[in-house]
Amino acid sequence: MEFFDVINKRRSIRKFKPDPIHKENILKILNAANWAPSALNLQPWEFLVVSGEKKNKLGSNYGKIVDNYTKDWAEAPDKAFMPRSEFIQFANIYGGAPVIIIVLAETHDDPNYQKAFLESASAAMENMLLAATALGLGGCWMTGPLADEKYLRKVLSIPDDREVVAISPIGYPAVIPEPRPRLDPDLTRKVKWLE
Ligand SMILES: Cc1cc2nc3c(=O)[nH]c(=O)nc-3n(C[C@H](O)[C@H](O)[C@H](O)COP(=O)(O)O)c2cc1C
Repeated sequence: MEFFDVINKRRSIRKFKPDPIHKENILKILNAANWAPSALNLQPWEFLVVSGEKKNKLGSNYGKIVDNYTKDWAEAPDKAFMPRSEFIQFANIYGGAPVIIIVLAETHDDPNYQKAFLESASAAMENMLLAATALGLGGCWMTGPLADEKYLRKVLSIPDDREVVAISPIGYPAVIPEPRPRLDPDLTRKVKWLE
């Protein structure tokens, strides 16, 4: 797929086909992540590829988080991207994705390094989502599950010296949503040209 098509076609996918993903394709998207830029080329990221019982446990936990978080939502509120019941359904099984990938970053005592590590790992995360799109796969950048980070760390045995950056289900999209509107599509307000 042409580069700008990949950019334009990437969506947050929340419904997946149950089809498994070849390990080769998972490695392809992780390789794209691994080629992201990083502060001082320290490449402070790591990836956890989670399936099976551990994925199910995390899904149930995220389902509870979403249930709680959306308690005051009307069924189809204008602020939401999907009705509450659908959101909970998605969360409980991560949309039926065969795997979820968790991006970790190294931690550092110096806040400047910490920020740079988080930014580097975020670049890896975006590379991963774009590579997934290019391969006909999809994902969804998610930090919501970190509302119960303690549980996530326990299930996946994540040590204290790693920051959990974000999570994405990865799989073949069953539903590709319409593009979400951009706040300033013509870039008249968000860009300042300074001389
Ligand atoms: C930092 C970050 C955190 C996000 N957290 C969640 C999340 O917890 N759950 C979720 O369903 N989507 C999450 N999203 C996805 C956004 O809702 C989505 O990117 C946005 O609505 C725009 O839609 P698009 O990605 O299809 O363009 C997150 C995205 C980012 C960048």
